[in-house]
Amino acid sequence: MYTTAFVDLPPLRRAAGTVRLPGSKSISNRVLLLAALSEGRTVVRDLLDSDDTRVMLQALQTLGCQLQRLDATTVAVDGLGGRLPVPQASLFLGNAGTAMRPLTAALAVLCARHGGTFELSGVPRMHERPIGDLVEALRQLGARIDYLGQAGYPPLRVQGPAALQLQAPIRVRGDVSSQFLTALLLALPLAAQTQPITIEVAGELISKPYVDLTLKLLARFGVDVQRSGWQRFTIPSGARYRTPAEVHVEGDASSASYFIAAGALAASEQPVTIEGVGLDSIQGDIAFVEAARAMGAHIDGAANRLHVRRGAWPLRALDLDCNAIPDAAMTLAVLALYADGPTTLRGIGSWRVKETDRITAMATELRKFGAEVEAGADWLRVHPLPAAQWRAAAIHTYDDHRMAMCASLAAFNPARLPVRILDPKCVAKTFPDYFETLWQVVQADPADIPVLCIDGPSASGKGTLAAAVAQRLGYHVLDSGALYRLVGLAAARAGLPTDEAALADAAVVAQLAELARTLAARFEGGHIWLDGCDVTEALRSEQAGAAASRVSALAPVRQALLQWQRSWRRLPGLVADGRDMGTVVFPDATLKVFLTASAHARAQRRYEQLRARNEHVSIDDLLADIEARDTRDRARSVAPLQPAEDALLLDNTHQTLDESVETVLAWWAQRRPFGA
Ligand code: DC
Repeated sequence: MYTTAFVDLPPLRRAAGTVRLPGSKSISNRVLLLAALSEGRTVVRDLLDSDDTRVMLQALQTLGCQLQRLDATTVAVDGLGGRLPVPQASLFLGNAGTAMRPLTAALAVLCARHGGTFELSGVPRMHERPIGDLVEALRQLGARIDYLGQAGYPPLRVQGPAALQLQAPIRVRGDVSSQFLTALLLALPLAAQTQPITIEVAGELISKPYVDLTLKLLARFGVDVQRSGWQRFTIPSGARYRTPAEVHVEGDASSASYFIAAGALAASEQPVTIEGVGLDSIQGDIAFVEAARAMGAHIDGAANRLHVRRGAWPLRALDLDCNAIPDAAMTLAVLALYADGPTTLRGIGSWRVKETDRITAMATELRKFGAEVEAGADWLRVHPLPAAQWRAAAIHTYDDHRMAMCASLAAFNPARLPVRILDPKCVAKTFPDYFETLWQVVQADPADIPVLCIDGPSASGKGTLAAAVAQRLGYHVLDSGALYRLVGLAAARAGLPTDEAALADAAVVAQLAELARTLAARFEGGHIWLDGCDVTEALRSEQAGAAASRVSALAPVRQALLQWQRSWRRLPGLVADGRDMGTVVFPDATLKVFLTASAHARAQRRYEQLRARNEHVSIDDLLADIEARDTRDRARSVAPLQPAEDALLLDNTHQTLDESVETVLAWWAQRRPFGA
């Protein structure tokens, strides 16, 4: 997951490959609640692991539900069977509407029967998202619910006991959020032991597919609700939740929309294949497939899989009522930039009460790319954006996962401009690894992938600086010294000599170059593996350093490592450290930094490092060693230590690491088109 302040997407050219999507948020949270309300154990597989499901799991546990994590995506839930073992609790529900609304209703019904006091709260935005229509419906029934802040919004207190009036139909508004109806449908089977319960929807029901999803999942848990149209829903008398023992959560159809869009924009020969959700999906957002086809995408699929390719180009503009696909419709708003005319999305009033006011947010941010956007109370019109008018933009995401994921699709722009997405960690709400998953199926031209090179003399701290800068940018790191150290170590393990005398023999040099070309090394999670052994520590030894210094002076070895080093240039970008990064390996790097700390300062740093490791060496010896190395490195004929002509010199003698990082990032910002 990206926890950086921003992530920069280079211009993307192609999309192809296979993604497996994380579980559906809507199904995950409904199934968790249903499992908790049922009697017996439910094993939930392929559960989404995200902020919204985490708050639901936490809340259920607080309410006394036994949960057991069987693996990363499987949880066993021992249901409460309609009981309420904990009489009072405070539940923090983040910004998860799919937890706040149904838990409010379920607790209102359970408290009425068993007594209890529960407080439900969330993040500040949750306290701006309406819940009044649901509270009104529950109060009509006789439930005791108080607002703890502003009337009509969380936080809330739910109390009991209370006598529920279940004879008359319960009326609930359906035109603000379908989650109010869903909440009642999930909660009221707990009160239908002896009589049927009818719910009537006032006003036009929005987001019907989400209610349909609720009905399908209720049926999986043994409760068949009868409906007439979308106005009247009856829970039969004697309804009781029964666990189906095991439930598989489908991949999230809303999350699929970003990959469908990527395929429609940039999959030409090979398709983008999406696994885990397909044409038989029970999620309403699968209807996005139809909308994408209408825009020109080629989509084939099976029950549990989709294949997407670019079809019409430019895409065809749409005028569409998006009431049934409110979440995936956001993806259409970005696709509209690539269409042959203005696209109008209607019936999206619910956008205004989601994670943020999505109509305003979308209009504001698309305009930053240069687009012409018109917006109304419940509609949005996006005009296509010709290549000449695209601008590089830093996109605000408003703590809204979908704003971040949508914005990533602007990286396919024909102007080949990068896109900056601020606060990318907001995707954790439903898709923590969204960007990593995106990198798997999109490609940029290597020349468009930014590279920052950091070079400098021995002990100048370039490795530490490179790692710190890479962390701030969310980039990969190439520690090129480690590659030469690996060659030295592999040679020792293969019994190949690397002493000066041996290196005078061309046959030995050729063998070393071959070894470098075929090195079976792997870099993973800060560790380095050689032939399946973790050699991270071994590579740091003085011995490995000395061998590296000798083999790195051999032109054939350097040549053998060249392509491998260049293959590190991967999305979204690279920080490379080592002496010839800016001169030979990445001569077109975006920024080249050359560290120039004094020999004395470097000796002092090395001295402190060694002392921390309880190794005692005299500082004078260290200084002499560093000066000798500098002389040798500058004088050597192959890849001598010298700054690239266009490198910026950074004397970090009197700087802390943080100060050096800030200096480099400030230079970096000047080289990027996003402004300060
Ligand atoms: O940075 P380091 O100490 O891990 O580097 C090990 C040796 O490899 C050192 O002698 C410098 C050399 N080297 C090189 O010649 N070219 C590079 N790109 C990186 C390191």
